[in-house]
Amino acid sequence: HGSKGVVLGCVAIWGLDPRGGVTFRFASYYGDHMVLQKKPAGAVVWGYGEAGANVTVSLSKDSKVIMKKMAQVEVVRAPADHGVPYSVMAEQHSREEPKNLTLRDIYFGDVWLCSGQSNMEMTVSQIINASKELSEAPLYPYVRVFTASLIQSEVELQDLAKIDLEWSIPTAENLGHGNFSYFSAVCWLFGRHLYETLRYPIGLVESSWGGSCIESWSSGRVLQECGGVPKRMEFLLPTLLSGPKMPSVLWNAMIHPLLNMSLTGVIWYQGEANALVNTDLYNCTFPALIADWRRTFHAGSEGQTQSLFPFGFVQVTGSQGTDHGDRNRCSEPTADYGYAPNKRMPNTFMAVAVDLCDEHSPYGSIHPRDKQNVAYRLHLGARAVAYGEKGLVFQGPYPTKVVVDGARGLINVTYGQELLLLLMHDRIFEVCCSDRPQLSAQEPCQWVPAPMVSASSHAVTLSSPGCRAAVTRLRYAWAEWPCEYRQCPLYNKHLLPAPPFAFLDQVRPGVSPAKCPV
Ligand SMILES: *[C@@H]1O[C@H](CO)[C@@H](O)[C@H](O)[C@H]1NC(C)=O
Ligand SMILES: *[C@@H]1O[C@H](CO)[C@@H](O)[C@H](O)[C@H]1NC(C)=O
Ligand SMILES: *[C@@H]1O[C@H](CO)[C@@H](O)[C@H](O)[C@H]1NC(C)=O
Ligand SMILES: *[C@@H]1O[C@H](CO)[C@@H](O)[C@H](O)[C@H]1NC(C)=O
Ligand SMILES: *[C@@H]1O[C@H](CO)[C@@H](O)[C@H](O)[C@H]1NC(C)=O
Ligand SMILES: *[C@@H]1O[C@H](CO)[C@@H](O)[C@H](O)[C@H]1NC(C)=O
Ligand SMILES: *[C@@H]1O[C@H](CO)[C@@H](O)[C@H](O)[C@H]1NC(C)=O
Repeated sequence: HGSKGVVLGCVAIWGLDPRGGVTFRFASYYGDHMVLQKKPAGAVVWGYGEAGANVTVSLSKDSKVIMKKMAQVEVVRAPADHGVPYSVMAEQHSREEPKNLTLRDIYFGDVWLCSGQSNMEMTVSQIINASKELSEAPLYPYVRVFTASLIQSEVELQDLAKIDLEWSIPTAENLGHGNFSYFSAVCWLFGRHLYETLRYPIGLVESSWGGSCIESWSSGRVLQECGGVPKRMEFLLPTLLSGPKMPSVLWNAMIHPLLNMSLTGVIWYQGEANALVNTDLYNCTFPALIADWRRTFHAGSEGQTQSLFPFGFVQVTGSQGTDHGDRNRCSEPTADYGYAPNKRMPNTFMAVAVDLCDEHSPYGSIHPRDKQNVAYRLHLGARAVAYGEKGLVFQGPYPTKVVVDGARGLINVTYGQELLLLLMHDRIFEVCCSDRPQLSAQEPCQWVPAPMVSASSHAVTLSSPGCRAAVTRLRYAWAEWPCEYRQCPLYNKHLLPAPPFAFLDQVRPGVSPAKCPV
């Protein structure tokens, strides 16, 4: 009862079953084929037993040889062999008969949680080149997948009420089960890339819900910090009515139950719903959610999950026909910095997806089908930030200097990386000029296009005849749909796009927060 102990790198926690009755079980999300968090963290194993009983958890290696299948014709590379899997046994000793439970085919590796809304939910069968991606599933038997069911709750749940996909070895069926079900394409491809780099098992836990706003994934603490607990999120567009509308209900049912599991980090693909709801609060709610999840996962895992675990996210792409004017990019995930990691969001990383729009997606243009590039860019961030790979370029080029040549009506924007110029664009840079010596951030002014006139390896020159003073606002790709698929003007030589930015009140590149215009 309430027993705790450290067994061979696992932390075992056993308690009384809140459902009552005489039960002896692991918590819902422990199962055969799972990946437990590897060293240096201890994996937490928890479950329920009888009052007064003692529970021992032990770890062993199976004596049997694992079956190996011959490679199929289309299989290009045989999967690596990570040796004999472990099994985890829990034995209960009470006044009754001794009981035991065994989890089989267990590996130790890195566990990542994948959360967000429909772009995280989109499955492998919905993306570009789906059949190829699905057919390659058997090449990755050491990337294991798990999907929580869509459940809302008004109180914090201790355990998942339902599971859509129990821990599984990937197959074409469980990666492409159906539209917006399991398994998440971004999560899968991210894990697969990590596996290719790390060469050890990866466990992926998907807990996401289409059309959800961040308020539903936030605990009361987060909401209190950011303007109070809203009664109900009112959606402005009927197409987004699909998601839950109450605050904290997904935190309660789909995140809180997972707190006791030890994990490496989280990836997050959310924000589309908050382009319509509580948009101006996102610069508070998102950093607060990250901090809250970090605190609570650390505490829930008895300190095994790092207190500042890596948190990656996707900067959402636009959808056609939803122009919110100046507010359009303001459900901005970087706490107004324009890049990650930053001071308010340490140990985070961002995948820029501004150039991955998909006008003809059968799921609507808000659901672009190129998830390969999203996952690739995210995994670069993870390698650099979470795994500390030195010298790895994971961000696109950011401006470091802006010089206004008022006499000639030119603006020079210098970038911190060598540029790959794909095309010249007349409207993607915009300026807002004033003859007044000072223009505060609150003062409105008219944005006008500043056509690109020339470019060199590290700089772009814009034409802006109206700008004479040094007080100039400047923004790039600050629109729902700034360019066509993979056709933004500026990339680096690793094909990472220059991220959107907006310098307000005064052009102070590099350090200016990319604030939303009023
Ligand atoms: C549980 O362990 C304690 C300490 O070793 C022992 O005193 C107690 O008798 C055990 N209880 C049962 C039900 O085996
Ligand atoms: C586990 O329990 C089964 C019966 O439920 C029993 O046959 C077996 O010997 C037990 N194993 C261990 C290691 O206690
Ligand atoms: C986590 O473990 C603790 C025991 O340390 C337990 O009381 C709690 O119910 C478990 N679940 C959650 C969600 O914290
Ligand atoms: C998924 O959506 C596509 C496009 O709307 C449709 O063709 C396909 O039948 C759907 N698949 C399932 C399993 O519902
Ligand atoms: C978030 O943005 C809003 C609107 O631009 C601004 O008023 C507010 O001060 C910002 N909050 C934080 C915490 O940065
Ligand atoms: C889809 O497959 C084609 C042909 O192999 C390839 O050129 C293209 O880059 C793939 N698209 C994505 C997004 O992976
Ligand atoms: C801007 O860039 C152009 C072309 O690189 C250069 O000729 C010009 O001197 C620059 N102007 C300023 C003010 O830096």
